[in-house]
Amino acid sequence: MSAPAPPTLTASSSVPAGVAALVVALSPADDVGVLDARARAAISAFGADVEAVIAVLTREKVKGGVGDIGALPVDSRLILAAGVGEATPRDFRRAGAAIVRRLKSVDSAAIVVGRASDAQVRALAEGLLLGGYAFKVSSSTDLPDSDPTALSITIVVERADERADALRAGVVTASATRLARDLANTPSSTKTPAWLAKQAVALGRKSGLDVRVRDARELRDEGFGGVVAVGMGSVNPPRLIELSYQPPASTAVAGHVVLVGKGITFDSGGLSLKPNAGMIAMKTDMAAGGAVIAAMSALRDLGVRVRVTGLVPAAENLPSGSAQRPSDVITQYGGTTVEVLNTDAEGRLVLADALAYADAQLDPDVLIDLATLTGAISIGLGKRHAGLFCADDRLVATLSSAGADSGEAVWRMPFVDDYRPTLDSSVADLANVSVDGGKTFSGGSIVAALFLREFVGRRRWAHLDIAGVGRAEGDEHEVTKGATGFGVRLLLHWLGGSDPLRGLR
Ligand code: BES
Ligand code: ZN
Ligand code: ZN
Repeated sequence: MSAPAPPTLTASSSVPAGVAALVVALSPADDVGVLDARARAAISAFGADVEAVIAVLTREKVKGGVGDIGALPVDSRLILAAGVGEATPRDFRRAGAAIVRRLKSVDSAAIVVGRASDAQVRALAEGLLLGGYAFKVSSSTDLPDSDPTALSITIVVERADERADALRAGVVTASATRLARDLANTPSSTKTPAWLAKQAVALGRKSGLDVRVRDARELRDEGFGGVVAVGMGSVNPPRLIELSYQPPASTAVAGHVVLVGKGITFDSGGLSLKPNAGMIAMKTDMAAGGAVIAAMSALRDLGVRVRVTGLVPAAENLPSGSAQRPSDVITQYGGTTVEVLNTDAEGRLVLADALAYADAQLDPDVLIDLATLTGAISIGLGKRHAGLFCADDRLVATLSSAGADSGEAVWRMPFVDDYRPTLDSSVADLANVSVDGGKTFSGGSIVAALFLREFVGRRRWAHLDIAGVGRAEGDEHEVTKGATGFGVRLLLHWLGGSDPLRGLR
């Protein structure tokens, strides 16, 4: 089995001869009964009748809203008029996704957009590459093979040469997002912590990263008690994956970002076993770790100017005769003791080690963790906003605008200090869940964030709970069913800026 290959994208100032499909962009302000001069010229040059296209648009009531598409077959070729709505980057991304879903049967297409900004071109490219994503398991144990008969798409835009960098940024970002989806969609029988580490090593080699993998023995010897405890119920032992990116000296700016991604390759809940229905989705409990690996693999291609380190604590949370028990006390990296009252609250245990390690050893200016941490986050925020926990207003502003620009929205959540005493254990420094079972305050996502806060020292830190947004039930715009790759676009829109740490050093 193979998955559809991504289209290849190029930008040009004219429609290439011989394309199988012509797409003209349409906005609600355009008069569908006339069409603008650029669209008319392109349609005529394609050898089609402008009036016939207008008749289709009128009959099918295509008005230029995002996702609106009118189609007219011309011999064995195809003309599409695709709505781009208000032409915001978000609209272009969504239009790209709608277009690519209608181009399944052709091998080449040109999309005539006329004048377009860098942000519009980047967004269109992202939509075109993400909207057609699908995952199929391949026969080998590696990532899915791509179908070799790829679609090639030319974006026809004024001053195409000046838009080349934006197009490339879109391609790099979307390719990394597809990679994150592939990693998270891979079944957990294949995707052990060792497998995930192997993928990271291979990707690091291709993309100029140093990758260090700690195995179970090193984790034990160096005191990563959370990763060890969560991983000890499985025959597939845990790993800590550390990826390092150093910008080229000629473009580097000061500062160090550390990204931490939860890498639970399967979350059964452990001895605090999940019901079956809730367990099936848990092959994607490393979605955040996959997003960190995928984003790291794109930093060089994007020309990121700050130093970045990625940490992915990877473990499989299974019940067995060697699993950790509810009531066990573990020692996290750095010495904090934790009473494990619920083995299904495992993400915070592996993250606590990585955060404490980052604080003690890596000296980050900004520390960010992403995790499919709590089911509770999607009760309040639903499936399209990640929860953002961060005490630093400037970092909140930076991440919020990266989220809005990239199509991956975040919403700020509060640290409610009054809830913190529910994590006080009678036998250890902390309990991993509220000792009253959450009866008094509820707010499971907030309590989880308060737990993590104990491990970040005085660092400028943000926590993104992506449990709601990390997977989707179906295709919608650029999001596709299964793992979404959430986080990759947000991180890369932020880190790819000229100085991502402005005001944050
Ligand atoms: N991986 C889950 C969170 C999750 C739930 C992600 C649904 C995606 C969809 C996490 O490890 C977990 O089990 N959290 C518990 C915490 C509870 C035991 C305090 C939860 O959310 O129920
Ligand atoms: Zn869990
Ligand atoms: Zn989990």
